[in-house]
Amino acid sequence: MSQDLVRLSISGAVGIITVDNPPVNALSPGVPEGILNGVQVFNATDDVKAIVLIGANGKFIAGADIRFFGKERAKLPMRPQDALEQSNKPVVAAISGFALGGGYEMALGCHYRVALSNARVGLPEVTLGLLPGGGGTQRLPRLIGPAKALDLIVSGRHVPAPEAYGLGMLNKIFPAGSDLQAEAVHYANSIADLRPIPRIRNMKDEVKKGTPELFEAKRKEIARRARNQEAPYVCIEAVEVACKTQIDDGLKWEGDKLRYLENTDESRALRYAFFAEREAQKLPDVPKGTPIKPITNAAVIGCGTMGGGIAMCFADAGIPVKVLEASQEALDKGMAKVRANYETSVKRGSLAADEMERRFARIEPVTEYDAIAQQDVVIEAVFENMDVKKEIFTKLDAVMKPGAMLLSNTSALDIDEIASATKRPQDVAGAHFFSPANVMKLLEVVKGKESSGEIVASTMALGKIIGKAPAATGNCDGFLANRSRAPFNSEMVILLEEGATPQQVDKVMVDFGYPMGPFAVGDLAGLDIGYAGRARRAAADPNYRTLPIADKLYEMGHYGQKTGAGWFKYEPGDRTPHPHDVVDQLIKEHMEANNIESREITDDEILKRLLFSSVNEACKILEEGIAYRASDVDIMWLYGFGFPRYRGGLMFWADLIGGPQEVYSQISSWHQRYGERWRPSEYLRKLAESGTIFKDAKAGS
Ligand code: COA
Repeated sequence: MSQDLVRLSISGAVGIITVDNPPVNALSPGVPEGILNGVQVFNATDDVKAIVLIGANGKFIAGADIRFFGKERAKLPMRPQDALEQSNKPVVAAISGFALGGGYEMALGCHYRVALSNARVGLPEVTLGLLPGGGGTQRLPRLIGPAKALDLIVSGRHVPAPEAYGLGMLNKIFPAGSDLQAEAVHYANSIADLRPIPRIRNMKDEVKKGTPELFEAKRKEIARRARNQEAPYVCIEAVEVACKTQIDDGLKWEGDKLRYLENTDESRALRYAFFAEREAQKLPDVPKGTPIKPITNAAVIGCGTMGGGIAMCFADAGIPVKVLEASQEALDKGMAKVRANYETSVKRGSLAADEMERRFARIEPVTEYDAIAQQDVVIEAVFENMDVKKEIFTKLDAVMKPGAMLLSNTSALDIDEIASATKRPQDVAGAHFFSPANVMKLLEVVKGKESSGEIVASTMALGKIIGKAPAATGNCDGFLANRSRAPFNSEMVILLEEGATPQQVDKVMVDFGYPMGPFAVGDLAGLDIGYAGRARRAAADPNYRTLPIADKLYEMGHYGQKTGAGWFKYEPGDRTPHPHDVVDQLIKEHMEANNIESREITDDEILKRLLFSSVNEACKILEEGIAYRASDVDIMWLYGFGFPRYRGGLMFWADLIGGPQEVYSQISSWHQRYGERWRPSEYLRKLAESGTIFKDAKAGS
């Protein structure tokens, strides 16, 4: 097997070890063995004076094979990166594409590292709840110093080759498009006779810079974002160990920690999320090879908060976009908001001023439909009113060139009805962005009953192009994301009716790992949005569970941050939520009027009432065949609602705390207590009885 995955060849006096394990040259079983074998063979070959380690198909090595963490690994007589380092003939790592994780650690075992200028390197293990366990935490600080190593290992970021060169992670870079193997062989010849061979294990100066203050400062810096997580802290400790210990002791320490971390729930969840995201790209009912429509330009209808944000997504991705508003006044206002958003990024230092100008210049305001007729894709992003949307789609049908992608950013309305306003419903789909559209990564792609495979696949591809995490769903009120979230939104207000407070609920969810509590999020988004949605649903469904406290609050003019008061009170110019007497009073009055006795509600009950209600709804969505699989629910919650990634997503988390049996039994008892809204879904019952776990649940199964 190692013969196939790793090839050996010789060019003059240089032995070449080529890793060839598509798609990304991961270190699957057989690859480490093959590299080790290559080092041994070339060290024993007299004519070979230097060695090059390279990846086939323009890719170096994307790291360990993530599927094998938590499983027994083959024991080798020696790790290949250690064998590379000990090689008596100098070894050059030749990097194109990606050298990540175990891939870059393999390069750190080599004595020289060269790369194409468009390559990326890094140690992203922390993003999988791990630490670099192939020597990275011990070698990188010795090579570039503890401060830079800490930044890279604790963030896990992918570093572009030119920056990596500047940081000292690479010895030389060649222009993109160069023949890397030829350049690397040439380079290997040039260093073949240099002695001593530069082995990182012998570099002792940089690690002297690791002061206790450096590590303490890093711990403080990550405290908020790394709460509830272990891996980031273990990564810091690992660099600290590198600065204090002999390398062999450090390597052993690192190996032990990796074996510990790979079995934590945190790492299981993060590895699951990695694959769930890739699984979401696969559309079971769209044949492989379905053509993808090219996108060279775009249009957005509406320059409100959503429309402006969507236009920014295109501009940020380098795609020229026209924004259409009926009136010049609305257009000017919308464009001013877009500009202000960009200026905030410049002020924060996350965007250069000249780059802002380039991006802003890609957005062209227009007032006539004729001006957008030739665009490849148009996204309608006006307010949620079916008549208005249908009118827009009738106009789009009349003017847009044949084959243009006609997308709606509706968050809940019937995509089939919208499509019915056109004579080309096959070209219509939903492209639901989450607020703020230029920040939130989820793109919920909605297939109507007549949407073609081509439009769905092309909308998914569009999501990737503009840097989103796309996931698909069928058509229903609220689609997958908002429909599965709706019971959570109701339950959090119902909890107030029983004696909980907004601050208690928010604290529970922030402690769980959300960046903000749900009531504070409501205040940020504006309470008018929820009010309008509830009114629409109540009108359509006589059994709709109303939320009198939320309705009264809105009717009192508490619209959230924009009015200085919502569920919380806000001081002018400050976004910190403070408890509001009026809300406490409303809750009290409601309880008195309905003879509800206040009771102590535990944090555990709050968490489970919010999340189990949504798990139950997600089961209904799966049962109806509207979602493809439970992991898509998780992708939507991770990228649309800020669910903590290290818990995997709503459904994965539910597996971790007991799975369908636990959820079913709890929901059944709440069904007894509260009645209909807690009726467990049939699908959930079947999962519980069959012993299937949520993460394996598929549509209708
Ligand atoms: N182990 C196992 N499979 C991997 C993998 C790895 N380290 N890296 C990628 N893959 C798989 C993906 O699951 C995907 O499989 P699929 O086609 O069956 O869905 C395929 O390789 C292509 O990956 P994808 O992410 O879709 O390609 P890309 O070109 O967008 O991105 C990378 C390439 C390398 C940047 C990205 O895959 C990545 O970040 N991989 C993980 C790197 C990492 O964390 N390494 C350290 C591991 S400890």
